[in-house]
Amino acid sequence: MYQDKKVVFSGVQPSGVLTLGNYLGAIRNFPKFSEEYRCYYCVVDEHAITVRQNPADLRRRTYETLALYIACGLDPEKNVIYVQSHVSAHAELGWILDCYTMFGELSRMTQFKDKSKKNADNVNAGLFTYPTLMAADILLYQTELVPVGDDQKQHLEITRDIAGRFNSIYGDVFVIPEPFISKTPSARIMSLAEPTKKMSKSDENENAIVRILDPKDVIIRKFKRAVTDSDTVVCAAEGKDGIINLMSIYGALTGKSFPEIEQEFAGKGYGDFKLAVGETCADVLAPIQTEYARLVADKKYLEEVMANGAREAAKSAMKTLSKVRRKVGFTDLPRY
Ligand code: TYM
Repeated sequence: MYQDKKVVFSGVQPSGVLTLGNYLGAIRNFPKFSEEYRCYYCVVDEHAITVRQNPADLRRRTYETLALYIACGLDPEKNVIYVQSHVSAHAELGWILDCYTMFGELSRMTQFKDKSKKNADNVNAGLFTYPTLMAADILLYQTELVPVGDDQKQHLEITRDIAGRFNSIYGDVFVIPEPFISKTPSARIMSLAEPTKKMSKSDENENAIVRILDPKDVIIRKFKRAVTDSDTVVCAAEGKDGIINLMSIYGALTGKSFPEIEQEFAGKGYGDFKLAVGETCADVLAPIQTEYARLVADKKYLEEVMANGAREAAKSAMKTLSKVRRKVGFTDLPRY
């Protein structure tokens, strides 16, 4: 059915309740590809354990993230939706690619540097080799396009480098993937508390993040408290990082450009603007929340989606993995 379609792959870590950044920067784009491409959308639980997780929480969030994928518009009939640890080829190819990735390249990854600072008591080898597992995720499916937020750009670059290096030794084994990063400012949604920092689902300050599942009053309150500046004019000027972030969010939610937003709020204060952003955001998220509540209560259905997805994904992944195994010189037993 999908044979001649090009491939899209993306993943989200089930390491917390997803944020508006995850939604606007990545997940909202996922369903756009379903008709034209063969799409794989993975809940990357193996990546999540690079930071210490409570096992019961991780298990629950894996279901929740899968349910959110579907609630955000991903039809399991048209997309392969699955959990990373259900397809062992990810970890297997990850190991092989570790042996084709340089210590120096991994040392330069900004996410590694940031996370090492944040988790100074647990700078484990998995955190360091995170990008090679991500490369394995992508390369296993001969992916052409990877829809992600702007913060994943560097990981896509290293994926391309690893694939290119492998291909230059063994011939054309991997398709070289391209990132798909939205050109709008929503490719990087910033923290509401520190607007020069990315909005991150693992932020300890709840007021810094809007979560996709936050109730309307919480969303409105968080936007009201968003850090701005001492000016009063809604415009995208130098030094107004907080306002620019709110304009990016409002623009992404309504489709309005910055000049249109400036015009709409001309003569009004920050209070009116923040309220409008909060209400619009809550209205956009409301139908997703309703659908999510229905799906997450149906564990049996989610397990069916997971199982079908894993089966489908494993079939394609094994094709690439077998080829890689042959190329690097591993032996195969007939059947055991
Ligand atoms: P993760 O789980 O941190 O984030 C999931 C997706 O959301 C995007 N994103 C954002 N976009 C805009 N503004 C923000 N504040 C924001 N925060 C997060 C991320 O860019 C991402 O697209 N390494 C990945 C997961 C991953 C993956 C993959 C992605 C593992 N393997 C293979 C693509 C392909 C990550 O940590 O995403």
